[in-house]
Amino acid sequence: MGLVDVSRLPQHVAIIMDGNGRWAQARGKPRTAGHERGADAVRDIMRATRRLGIPALTLYAFSEQNWDRPRGEVDALVDLLCEHLVSERDELIDNEIRLSAIGRLHKLPSRARERLHSLMNETAQYDGMTLTLALSYGGREELVDAVRALAHRVADGTIDADTIDEVTLARQLPSMKVGPVDLLIRTGGEQRISNFLLWGSAYAELHFTEELWPDFGVNSLYYALGCYQKRERRFGLVPDDCEPAEALPPRGNLEHAV
Ligand code: FPP
Repeated sequence: MGLVDVSRLPQHVAIIMDGNGRWAQARGKPRTAGHERGADAVRDIMRATRRLGIPALTLYAFSEQNWDRPRGEVDALVDLLCEHLVSERDELIDNEIRLSAIGRLHKLPSRARERLHSLMNETAQYDGMTLTLALSYGGREELVDAVRALAHRVADGTIDADTIDEVTLARQLPSMKVGPVDLLIRTGGEQRISNFLLWGSAYAELHFTEELWPDFGVNSLYYALGCYQKRERRFGLVPDDCEPAEALPPRGNLEHAV
């Protein structure tokens, strides 16, 4: 068997795609060049995830906090998103990938919103995999929006406050439509969650890598999946089997990964 056991794949992989700026700066290029290469990496990882049969992939493409970046960089990211929504249309349709989006989408410029909604409508019937783009997204903001919606329902009498439980709240969270996160990957060397999928990542396995997002290729994904499969997920329960995890093969040796 290869490094990745396709019978035990995570059902939901989420990625914090960090390091585009540093990738570009290291090459004497503007930060936007790093985002462009980052968009290429998005395509490769989306294809590989679909090919493996992982049902849900959520990508942190633009955080609520990213609006405070320099205007030129924000505009370039929005332009890149618009181009990506055009260039990837056939790829999504041919591979029966449903496009979804979470975040305060009303804050996106109308040109991005229109393309996004149009492609989401066009791919709504597919169930091969759901690709969710987190855009103008923040985990705290999502929770605040959900609590506010529930408060309105309590106020208008459609829900009894005492019946609110974890299931009720999770149903209000757009990010939970594809279920909780099994594997959360962050590239770029930082080891933090940065306000991403706070509720859904409660029991996620975390995988941090020094690789910058534009360098994160299919082998990097296989390696992350291999690491995930060595973990023992206990969800707060007592372990059945305390055997130490098998050693991973060296990082470079991924020829027969799947
Ligand atoms: C973080 O790197 C990355 C972003 C803020 C944007 C992510 C966008 C892409 C991967 C490309 C476009 C995406 C789509 C879906 C078309 P950073 O700029 O913070 O890097 P740094 O930490 O090196 O400065």
